[in-house]
Amino acid sequence: MNYYRDTWAEIDLSAIQENIASFRKHLPQKTNIMAVVKANAYGHGAYQVASAAVEAGATWLSVALMDEAIALRKQGIEEPILVMGVTRPSDVRLAYEWKISLTVFQQEWLHEASKQLVDGEAVNVHLKVDTGMGRIGARSFEDIQQVATTIASNPHFIFEGMFTHFATADELQSELVDQQFARFEDVVDMVRQMGVEPTYLHCGNSAASLRFPTKLFNIARIGIAMYGLTPSPEMKAVLPFSLKPALSLHTKLVHVKKVEPGDTVSYGATYVALKEEWIGTLPIGYADGWIRRYGENGEVLVQGKRTRFAGRICMDQSMIQLPHEMNVGETVTLIGRQGEAEISADDVARQAMTINYEISCLLTARVPRIYKKQGRILEKMNAILNF
Ligand SMILES: Cc1ncc(COP(=O)(O)O)c(C=O)c1O
Repeated sequence: MNYYRDTWAEIDLSAIQENIASFRKHLPQKTNIMAVVKANAYGHGAYQVASAAVEAGATWLSVALMDEAIALRKQGIEEPILVMGVTRPSDVRLAYEWKISLTVFQQEWLHEASKQLVDGEAVNVHLKVDTGMGRIGARSFEDIQQVATTIASNPHFIFEGMFTHFATADELQSELVDQQFARFEDVVDMVRQMGVEPTYLHCGNSAASLRFPTKLFNIARIGIAMYGLTPSPEMKAVLPFSLKPALSLHTKLVHVKKVEPGDTVSYGATYVALKEEWIGTLPIGYADGWIRRYGENGEVLVQGKRTRFAGRICMDQSMIQLPHEMNVGETVTLIGRQGEAEISADDVARQAMTINYEISCLLTARVPRIYKKQGRILEKMNAILNF
């Protein structure tokens, strides 16, 4: 589908597949790869990433919301999907109808949900254990035992999995991750002693999967690293294989002008030209996910060189300094490479004092996604016109 403004994100599905292939070699054979495609695959496009990931060897998918799971099913994805967030018990029938696995951990939830199902109907559930993340999950052994007993004894539930999530797997000096591993192992032993064996046990996100490949039981839940980004800056030093970033972001100059000393640029007139300067206007702004903070210290690439924003980023447009006069239509790269030069999502995150996860997640539906495989364009996705 076409788009009518020269701002676009390129998603290299081959990079995603290479990253999965690297994980496949790195992880024991028994460990399934679950491609984490929540939040529109961290902004990359859930359906396209899910399809590419499955083709490359992922056997599971996961999302945060039931809505995201149903969307994948409606687009024809047949692999098992786990909703990792909390679903309303009143929506449990949707999970049954669409064959979606749910995260559970509350007695009351199980009680309510089971009332929605009739004889012969059962949903796959994964018991979430809070071993130290402090977000969702059953915490005490007593609670875990009770919930496990209910799942195992109620015919409306299939005890498909049990899992936990690490808070600090991306921190090399953290003791919490060891404590969480130990706690999860104890919980697994306890549940086994009850005579219950969930089919899948899982704990590792990208960071844990990169660092502790043999300790992950039988699923690794891989998000950020599948997109080619390192879970934290400190982990760059210990990566067992190189990761290939999948997303790049580009636009084109739509206006070029010379300003005189004393002229100001953009809202608030915070940028004041000190000499004669060339200023370029880009058709991208905070409504595209290029937030105002990126303008403060951020850089872009034009003609293979780094340059800075001039003044505040607007809703739909932003201005940059140009080293000399340039033509309208010149490509400007906000994330990605131009020749030898590169601006990574990590660079953007560092300058904006945030994490790389946020950068692609924030790109809005207004930015068309161009999908490439082996250098060839597969599909152009413009969500604005996709109805
Ligand atoms: C429960 C759970 N598992 C796995 C992941 C994937 O994490 P990462 O992107 O660090 O691999 C997430 C993402 O936040 C998550 O919430």
